[in-house]
Amino acid sequence: MKFANLLTAALMASAASLGIAGSASAQSNEEVQVLHWWTSGGEAKALSTLKDKLQGEGVAWVDVPVAGGGGEGAMTVLRSRVTAGDPPTASQMLGFDIQDWAEQGVLANLNDVAAAGGWDAAIPEAIQKFSKYEGEWVAAPVNIHSTNWIWVNKAMFDELGLSEPKDWDGLIAALDKIKAAGKTALAHGGQPWQDATIFDSVVMTTGGPDFYQKSMIDLDPEALGSDTMKTVFERMAKLRTYVDDNFSGRDWNLATAMVINGEAGVQIMGDWAKGEFLNAGKQPGTDFLCYRFPGTQGTVTFNTDQFAMFQVGENAQDAQSKLAAAIEDPAFQVSFNTIKGSAPTRTDVSDEAFDACGKKAIADVKEAAEKGTLLGSLAHGHAARAAVKNAMYDVVTAAFNGDYTPEQATQELVTAVAGAQ
Ligand code: GAL
Repeated sequence: MKFANLLTAALMASAASLGIAGSASAQSNEEVQVLHWWTSGGEAKALSTLKDKLQGEGVAWVDVPVAGGGGEGAMTVLRSRVTAGDPPTASQMLGFDIQDWAEQGVLANLNDVAAAGGWDAAIPEAIQKFSKYEGEWVAAPVNIHSTNWIWVNKAMFDELGLSEPKDWDGLIAALDKIKAAGKTALAHGGQPWQDATIFDSVVMTTGGPDFYQKSMIDLDPEALGSDTMKTVFERMAKLRTYVDDNFSGRDWNLATAMVINGEAGVQIMGDWAKGEFLNAGKQPGTDFLCYRFPGTQGTVTFNTDQFAMFQVGENAQDAQSKLAAAIEDPAFQVSFNTIKGSAPTRTDVSDEAFDACGKKAIADVKEAAEKGTLLGSLAHGHAARAAVKNAMYDVVTAAFNGDYTPEQATQELVTAVAGAQ
């Protein structure tokens, strides 16, 4: 039975059993059950600003955390809860996953809150593409994260006389110098979503925005199987030579901690890593440096965290509206994103309260939106649907672990993507 039919059957059964027409379960109208994966120090600190804001408005927050960077585990739990007829009030989700859920007809319409909050004028078109389904608002975007960053331990760069690497060769020269000094050059966690997060940037720096668009978003078989893609996999294999022996399975924030404590020199990660530096009391320009992945300046591979509301009954709608309105409140956009490490999703929010990395994130997003180089992150569900994303994850991780040569990985990528469409 197709997922959609199973889902409908489950929702009908549970509504009938509870005798509640058109809703899966009765919930107090001043309570939100929120499923998310923000469990690291920085993520939890940022999320607490939302919990506090809602509690200040009389809405109790029932936390449903599902640990696991990138949200794969959270999405598995979400699917099982919805299939069981017990969806949360709201869930964090990314990009094309919102479209998949909207197609099931299980998301609440947020048009009224959007109109009251001026969302259409303030939120970039590239984000709205994911927040709306058939022209209706079905999710509230909270930020604009991006993956094409490197995070640097400043003391180590100073000690080794290193400056910002401006291209691939500059990055390799810097990593070689750190490795020669007996340090871990690249802090990394060997998990598919983290390998893919690096892949975003290597595709971009190797082929540029047009190639990124063609291969990651258009899924053009010629681009996916090209010599350029072979070079991408050769470069991924090169990066593999800079990680430590215990990288496999490491959580992303523990890799960030290696850069924070000076055990490693560089991490390639989205700007949620900045939330970990800040949570550890570190300051940009003093303790750490944020650089665009070498060779990708002028482009942004973005991923936006959004909260979608499930149809859990009329008595939850007031609380859901308050949650959606809180997320887009301009003051909240500052208080949350200055901690989370992301740029605000609203373009009518001042960058004054943001640190140097935050100001750069905001400026880069604006520049990329104007240049048409604000492109969705493949690794974080903003380039292709989940089936294709996961098929790419498998090839990228297998290649990173040496199971494929660059040539084989390139061919496997074409096959895997074709099979997942
Ligand atoms: C991303 C998400 C970020 C952060 C990161 C690590 O998918 O957009 O907010 O949670 O995963 O878990």
